[in-house]
Amino acid sequence: MEVVRKAEMILEKDFQISEIDPRLYGAFVEHLGRSIYGGIYEPGHPSADEQGFRGDVLSLVRELDIPVIRYPGGNFVSGYNWEDGVGPKDQRPRRLDLAWRTIEPNEVGVNEFVDWTRKAGSQVMMAVNLGTRGVDAARNLVEYCNHPSGSYYSDLRIKHGYAQPHGIKLWCLGNEMDGPWQIGAKTAYEYGRIALESAKVMKWVDPSIELVVCGSSGRGMPTFAQWEAEVLDLTYDHVDYISLHTYYGNRDNDTPNFLARTLDMDQFINSVIAICDYIKAKKRSSKTLHLSFDEWNVWYHSNEADKKVEPWTVAPPLLEDVYNLEDALVVGSMLISLIRRADRVKIGCLAQLVNVIAPIMTQTGGPAWRQTTFYPFMHASLYGRGTALLPVIKSDKYDSKDFTDVPYLDAIGVFNEEKEELTIFAVNRNLEGGLEFTGDLRGFCGYEVVEHIVLTHEDLKAANTADQPNNVVPHLGGNAQISEGKLSALLPKQSWNVIRLAKKA
Ligand code: AHR
Repeated sequence: MEVVRKAEMILEKDFQISEIDPRLYGAFVEHLGRSIYGGIYEPGHPSADEQGFRGDVLSLVRELDIPVIRYPGGNFVSGYNWEDGVGPKDQRPRRLDLAWRTIEPNEVGVNEFVDWTRKAGSQVMMAVNLGTRGVDAARNLVEYCNHPSGSYYSDLRIKHGYAQPHGIKLWCLGNEMDGPWQIGAKTAYEYGRIALESAKVMKWVDPSIELVVCGSSGRGMPTFAQWEAEVLDLTYDHVDYISLHTYYGNRDNDTPNFLARTLDMDQFINSVIAICDYIKAKKRSSKTLHLSFDEWNVWYHSNEADKKVEPWTVAPPLLEDVYNLEDALVVGSMLISLIRRADRVKIGCLAQLVNVIAPIMTQTGGPAWRQTTFYPFMHASLYGRGTALLPVIKSDKYDSKDFTDVPYLDAIGVFNEEKEELTIFAVNRNLEGGLEFTGDLRGFCGYEVVEHIVLTHEDLKAANTADQPNNVVPHLGGNAQISEGKLSALLPKQSWNVIRLAKKA
């Protein structure tokens, strides 16, 4: 039986959270599985360009309008020698990648990836190896990428065919260094020291760069919070952001509980902000540290299949989650969580981008297609630019296994003053029926509904595949309407909604 729930939202132009940093809509490409080889790069593919990059993948990436892409890892970076990936391709070594137990052929390296991101209309967020390597390799990589000329590494880049510096502005000081699975994992003190010393010299080479220090690899880590405090105590004055990572899954097939997971994400963000501000207070600092949520997504579907993958091959299918409707709803809610704290979360990276827990899938030698999660990410990236507005929400609620008082409505508003556009992103978590939604849009007189995009499906487990790439796609059939500043809509059962309004011409 259909059970309709109710929710109200007040949005006011002057109640602002913050300007949204466009880098909130970043992504991540790691040397992992078929992300690079068979994903973005496949020289024999019919759509490949002169550098071997797949044209079909590039056009899907462009649809997402991604400002920044984190590279080359992830766990991979903690064993990576960046020098292996530059210079003549026929002289590059094949290496064992201990992070994912594969062979890395090094056909794609820093320079090719910079070229690819340019073609994608994006920029690189580069991670350095603080697992097996450290200060020296890190400063040399900054010199190779960013120093104009007249030094060993900048001249080496020129010799490799790149006369202009790459000008990479954003750098990660390693990856998940608290995790026992990490190559060269460290205690907070060991990591804090190497991060500090690397940060100093990287900025001496190029003072214009910004640095992200590693926070915990998840809120569930036993050292969470203490790790952040100790690392920041050592590095606070030398870094610009601290990282957060989180992945959710519906392992016990409890969808109401799965959809509520973003309450955990909100807590995680708030906790890390509190730790940053504690260190700020302790140091009597005037500097406010921002957050880089540089790995977030749903990840669990592929866990069992991955255990059966043969080790030591090139580009095996790893982490190839096939996403369904409920995953897309969680991704939509995660985006709302990021926008809700846009005052402190300045960078976000959907992990990852192609084939590996990704919105874009390919068949090697075959087509590329959009997963369900592609759509909320694309909508947020395209329409979530501007100022995040502080909503007042009154919603019917439910309790789930791990959460109480879960609002059926998860929503946020983004105001683009320049374009005179207001966009509301909303997830209806009600699995039993619609959500009667009313919006009090006070200061937005003269605004009309441009479109109400809906992503839903009768089957929560419905997904897109190579054979059925358009099984779950958004439609414009939402019924949002506005009358005298009052917005009303029936948000369909289990749906992601984008209500776009603009000032009447
Ligand atoms: O994104 C997949 C992996 O998840 C990354 O390599 C690692 O940083 C995290 O544990």
